[in-house]
Amino acid sequence: MDKLRAMVTGIHGYVPEYRLTNKELESLVDTNDEWIMTRTGIKERRILKGENQGTSVLGIEAVKGLLEKTGTDPLDVELIICATVTPDMPFPATANIIADKVGAKNSFSFDIGAACSGFLYALQLGAQFIQAGTHKKVIIVGADKMSSIVDYQDRTTCILFGDGAGAVLLEPTTESLGIVDAILKADGSGESFLHMKAGGSRRPATQETVANREHFAYQEGTSVFKFAVTNMADVSAEVMERNKLTGDDVAWLVPHQANKRIIDATANRMGVGPEKVMMNIERYGNTTAATIPLCLWEYESQLKKGDNLILAAFGGGFTWGAIYLKWALDPK
Ligand code: UT7
Repeated sequence: MDKLRAMVTGIHGYVPEYRLTNKELESLVDTNDEWIMTRTGIKERRILKGENQGTSVLGIEAVKGLLEKTGTDPLDVELIICATVTPDMPFPATANIIADKVGAKNSFSFDIGAACSGFLYALQLGAQFIQAGTHKKVIIVGADKMSSIVDYQDRTTCILFGDGAGAVLLEPTTESLGIVDAILKADGSGESFLHMKAGGSRRPATQETVANREHFAYQEGTSVFKFAVTNMADVSAEVMERNKLTGDDVAWLVPHQANKRIIDATANRMGVGPEKVMMNIERYGNTTAATIPLCLWEYESQLKKGDNLILAAFGGGFTWGAIYLKWALDPK
């Protein structure tokens, strides 16, 4: 039997309406547009406002749009994996809530948490179900409501993050398209540099943890930056070498959007010019698990069947990785 591969047969994204601009942040913390732009490349981020609005709200919109766009009957979906670090609740899984609300009644579903690399981890995991021949329609959602864990009194983190979601449909093919190769890595010793101090089993919520503002993302930015620059570039170069690709062979770099400087360093190392780098950090900031699918969604009209894409990420954990994806769709 011909080898099965998992190809992306649809992509959709969703960002909430509200724009949190650098100007507005200037009224919350001691910062300014010039500092934020030169250090990060971010101009504004989208924020999901309103009571009882969790990450599932973002994921549902992305998946609904994906089903419509691809003409997929929700009852045919067999698996939904949601990558998120901001689930609606610790349990049940946000993927279960999304599956229920989009009518994917025949699907099983679960969440995975790999922070900014979550979408890559989930994509490779979903692809394995397709490649094994056991599943034919798998949805991968990257969704995060980062505004729910951002401390808007901490100028070193509140300028970075935004809310959003993106989703892809994976289906089998025997052509040389889809996910060709993946290198995923993790190093748990990175915990101290990027984590949330309380709210888990080690330090459950108490009045003290709330008073100490421990339920927010904590980051030692400069240390994370150093690890990110090296590891994201290394792993991208590694996946290219392993597949005998040069910068000229790569049609697009699809990088996690954490900092424009990290993205530029990765592209440089790969020998890929800026015109081939997907970038929307200026408008959305860092949406954690959603950055890569949001990029694919926005650049979809420029992608051609057979294009070589390198998806690359680095984030909390530490987690990082790169996926070599051959685009399977022609522009509509
Ligand atoms: O996606 C998950 C993985 N995360 C990342 O990849 C993020 C990696 N880190 C970064 O992107 C960068 O480290 C940051 C953008 C977070 C910070 O940039 P930096 O160049 O590392 O700045 P810094 O933290 O070293 O701060 C430089 C100065 C400090 O002042 P002093 O000590 O030099 O007087 C900060 O206090 O800038 C100050 N600063 C600010 N000033 C204005 C820090 N935050 C701000 C701010 N506005 N928002």
